[in-house]
Amino acid sequence: MLIRLNKYIAECGICSRRNADCLIKEGRVKINEILTYNLGQRIDDKKDIVKVDNTIVKKVEKKVYIMLNKPIGYITTNKEQFNRKSTKDLINEDLRVFPIGRLDKDTEGLLLFTNDGDFANYMMHPRHTVEKTYIVTTDSNITSKKIEKLKNGVDIGGYITKEAKVRMLSKNQLEIVISEGKNRQVRKMCRVVNINVKKLKRTRIGNLELGKLKVGEYKLLSYKDIKKLRNI
Ligand code: URA
Repeated sequence: MLIRLNKYIAECGICSRRNADCLIKEGRVKINEILTYNLGQRIDDKKDIVKVDNTIVKKVEKKVYIMLNKPIGYITTNKEQFNRKSTKDLINEDLRVFPIGRLDKDTEGLLLFTNDGDFANYMMHPRHTVEKTYIVTTDSNITSKKIEKLKNGVDIGGYITKEAKVRMLSKNQLEIVISEGKNRQVRKMCRVVNINVKKLKRTRIGNLELGKLKVGEYKLLSYKDIKKLRNI
């Protein structure tokens, strides 16, 4: 059957369809030993041999979904990055998985992994406004004026953030719920209103809570968990 190359790469559990387009643009994908930069390329999934980074990729047999409590100090990547500590070192499974979105190095908390490219695509697609909850610990003064600004949207450098749910949890803790995921968004939002982020932790994605999962630990999600996440 002829299918889009990015869809095939996603079905092989390498990454989401969108990130597959990045791999193609970066010149990391070959079809029958020929490098392609064509984003609209179709392949015959029965006959053609697709390689990513010179390794043949094959459709995944079993889909897995994992939630990790990411520790501070780990980068979110599957690529080797100059021996830096990476979230991939924390997941010890036979099947290859990739992260759905990212948390920055200094942020702790809930991060999902899968080998299901379609699911990753669904979770990351802007159309599917999946809420994410962050807890900010700060040594700055949290005022109602700052909270109002964060709620209404702030300019984080050429982009006005959408409405957010923001509430004070204690004198030095703020809960921020956003449905978008610009790079380092919560840190940038806090900087705009002069809230110094001492610690940032993600505690929820959609209706999936981090719960009691310890820092550095992960668990496999059930089909029921995934169904719930898809239905938000
Ligand atoms: N916002 C941030 O600033 N960092 C993250 O890792 C996620 C959201």
